[in-house]
Amino acid sequence: MRIAALLLAAGLGRRFGSRTAKQYLPLGARPVIRHAAEALLPHVDLLLPVGDAALLAEALDGLEKVHAAVRGGVTRQQSVRLGLDALDALPADRRPDLVLVHDGARPYVPASVVTAVIDALATHRGAVPCIPVAETIKRADAGLISATVPRHGLYRAQTPQGFDFATLRDLHRAHMHEAGGAGDLTDDAAFLEQAGIPVALVRGAEDNIKLTYEEDLMRLERLLGPTLLPRTGTGFDVHAFGEPRPLMLCGIEVAHERGLAGHSDADVGLHALCDAIYGALAEGDIGRHFPPSEADWKDADSARFLIHAGERIAARGGILVNADVTLICERPKIGPHAEAMRARLAALLRTDIGRISVKATTTERLGFTGRGEGIACQASATVLVR
Ligand code: CTP
Ligand code: MG
Repeated sequence: MRIAALLLAAGLGRRFGSRTAKQYLPLGARPVIRHAAEALLPHVDLLLPVGDAALLAEALDGLEKVHAAVRGGVTRQQSVRLGLDALDALPADRRPDLVLVHDGARPYVPASVVTAVIDALATHRGAVPCIPVAETIKRADAGLISATVPRHGLYRAQTPQGFDFATLRDLHRAHMHEAGGAGDLTDDAAFLEQAGIPVALVRGAEDNIKLTYEEDLMRLERLLGPTLLPRTGTGFDVHAFGEPRPLMLCGIEVAHERGLAGHSDADVGLHALCDAIYGALAEGDIGRHFPPSEADWKDADSARFLIHAGERIAARGGILVNADVTLICERPKIGPHAEAMRARLAALLRTDIGRISVKATTTERLGFTGRGEGIACQASATVLVR
């Protein structure tokens, strides 16, 4: 029995209203849609994302079983149909028997919900995870309540919805020319219901929130929070002034008569911050991940080290809470560059600039930094991880 998942990500998120479409926003250290993909992947043989190919390739980079993305449509219904067409075009030995259709904006679907949907497909051609409506339901118009709707027998439908592949494909194709090709059914089970095909109801989960309005992002972040523990790491690094090469500090070039000596680009700020993050994760230090003996790292742009450290947080399912970097030198003056450094570090770590601090101090002309022989840096980082 082959199972494929369609992961929908072609929407514009008009109700959410962010510049980046909601499914690509970071939640913890990973994009919303990557959480969704990781939740589904253990249960399926193939995952086919529907949406912008470049954004999806970046967001889902490195995950196994992920097919190249197909372009979506104007409506969700159209996006699903295009995804089903792409699955249908696979060679016969890869075409699925069952398909799960999941909202890319729904990051935290519990494994129990996915397995309940798949299990129900042993006896039904469609299955939908649902939550019974708990509140009293009102109908209203223009701010005035007009009626109370009996809530008995009412449910809120979630995804992933599961189907016999051929059944869903044929129903979507049968309806594809309605509404000028832009039919707007917001879920897929509706086609089976209209056709009189029984659809099983399985238990959904309150945490299986669809990111729809801005406040949903806060709810999702709160869900992530208590399952994680805070851990703090520190890092320290020193490089001597030496060669006449560009001075790299915290990922940006700072105008100065001398650069720092070192195997890589000698960016003392990036190195200390990497070690703080590795320390917080208890994953060794920068030398373990990028041994100085390897020619590969000679003159390397240290930005790649920090990107790696950030990816380690993501791989652990964690969040960078904050990082604080202190550069120690008499010259150059760091103040004028601090904002650009914060922005660069935040970009490399894919986090908000508000979580990154860069500051500097002198040592009152004492010691090697005081004599202008080199630059030291100390950093701390706090992460939340499981
Ligand atoms: N979706 C899609 N193609 C569309 C519209 C929606 O693939 N043309 C996807 C969305 O990316 C989302 C899922 O369907 O993962 C659920 O849709 P919804 O929450 O309505 O997302 P948007 O349509 O993006 O948001 P809005 O309706 O607020 O514009
Ligand atoms: Mg929509």
